[in-house]
Amino acid sequence: MIKDIISVTVKAGKVDVLSAKTDLLAVGVYSDSKKPSKLCAAIDKKLEGAIDKVRELGDFKGKVKSSTVLYGSGKLGAARVLLVGLGEKKDVTSDVIRQAAGLAASKAVAVKARTAVLCLHQDVGRKMGAESLGQAITEGVYYGSYRYDEFVTDDEDGRLKSLKVQIADTDAKRVSGLGKGVSVGSIIGKAQAFGRTVANRPGNIVNPPVLGDIAKKVARRTANLSCTVLDDKQLKAKKMGGILAVGKGSASKPRLIVLKYTPAGKKKAKGTIGLVGKAVTFDSGGISIKPSSGMDEMKLDKSGGIAVLAAMQAIAELKPAVCVYGIIPAAENMPSATSYRPGDIITTYSGKTVEVQNTDAEGRMILCDGLAYAVEKKCETIVDIATLTGACKVALGQHKAALMGNDDGLIKQLEAAAEESGENVWHMPSGEEYLAEMKSKIADLKNIGSRWGGACSAAAFLGEFTGDAKWAHVDMASVDIFTAGKGAGGIGATGFGVRLLVKFVINSAKKK
Ligand code: BES
Ligand code: MN
Ligand code: ZN
Repeated sequence: MIKDIISVTVKAGKVDVLSAKTDLLAVGVYSDSKKPSKLCAAIDKKLEGAIDKVRELGDFKGKVKSSTVLYGSGKLGAARVLLVGLGEKKDVTSDVIRQAAGLAASKAVAVKARTAVLCLHQDVGRKMGAESLGQAITEGVYYGSYRYDEFVTDDEDGRLKSLKVQIADTDAKRVSGLGKGVSVGSIIGKAQAFGRTVANRPGNIVNPPVLGDIAKKVARRTANLSCTVLDDKQLKAKKMGGILAVGKGSASKPRLIVLKYTPAGKKKAKGTIGLVGKAVTFDSGGISIKPSSGMDEMKLDKSGGIAVLAAMQAIAELKPAVCVYGIIPAAENMPSATSYRPGDIITTYSGKTVEVQNTDAEGRMILCDGLAYAVEKKCETIVDIATLTGACKVALGQHKAALMGNDDGLIKQLEAAAEESGENVWHMPSGEEYLAEMKSKIADLKNIGSRWGGACSAAAFLGEFTGDAKWAHVDMASVDIFTAGKGAGGIGATGFGVRLLVKFVINSAKKK
């Protein structure tokens, strides 16, 4: 039996922080404020000066990503107080607060707290609205409390099944604003946690047909969201040569998963957005096989597609006034007697031909069909997301995803969504020079470029399949995984892209 992940609920409420009975009371502390906040001073009184002491000794400086636990002698309602660093006051952003909430939730899970009260936003200036703070805190809580342990049957420590979090405030109006943010943040936070679980499931559990079934289930439980899954026969009939080529070597047949969100009732849709995500459920490299070390991480090569799936769930629940397609080409890239080979020439869905020079450059082979499908569905704006190139990881390290595209306005919108969501992107070049490297002598394109700038030439390849649409590409190969010790919310899939895509779509619906 597979265990459920930790069930988390978040609420905003008028809470008397000093007397509230809770397993963990988390309090935000700036690194540069000489005087403690009113709230901190009141808590410190009950703790008989422990906060003062820990700061005086220099054990806790209020830096971001730092925290410390204090125990009182029973004068506070809370069993533990967790001080969470917020860094310098002038630098505080909604993402600082999101990360602080993530850290608090992660610690709450570590000490098996059933309940937690959060006081992280109290001293953030009024420039950040209560709603956006409530959303950021809630997203952070879902993020930080996430653990992937559904296959762990033998865990001495065990863990709790659920965590109940209250965001505390004294002002009724702020509580109501925070509460609105909590509703949005819960939708996004739950979607992201769901996505992380699907991504973390290995290749023997999640293959393309299974992913198709999961997507159908999501659509069934979500209003205004529909799902069609094209199987290999339908892919053949439609001549989706790219997806078919990559899927050929595997016993699990490829799929094209198409989700569609249509605004209900009188809401007039402001255009159509296509989100296209790479879902290679396992990438061995195929005949151009990868080295064995680290190959297990290629179970996460479906992360772009899953970001789209989870984002579609959240988008349908948030009901923006814009039509959205979620297009997820899914295949497993395996070496076998039926695999596609280096040298093969593939006719893709768009009609363009591609000379395969490396079967490990498979992401672009499936994405090109997904992009052509989005164009056919008349998406005026297309954003694709994929764990596309190792070169992206080399260029950016593990802190930011790469962003390329053909429209400056769209790039700016995605940069804004990245800033708000805390899922960082960095604009990188693509275009003519890079495309020149992708020209084949015996077909329209080849699937690899020169040795250098692999993330940029891969993007140029994709740009050939986007018709007249405004298009942007997110290469998330740099940010798909937390390895040991990194990140507040446990190792494995990061769920990157869910918050970014949802923010982008919601903003687009408001903008026009
Ligand atoms: N899925 C990989 C890219 C990747 C690498 C993602 C590391 C996450 C971490 C992709 O399919 C791939 O194999 N790309 C090749 C392209 C090359 C053959 C042009 C690469 O980057 O080596
Ligand atoms: Mn590959
Ligand atoms: Zn891949």
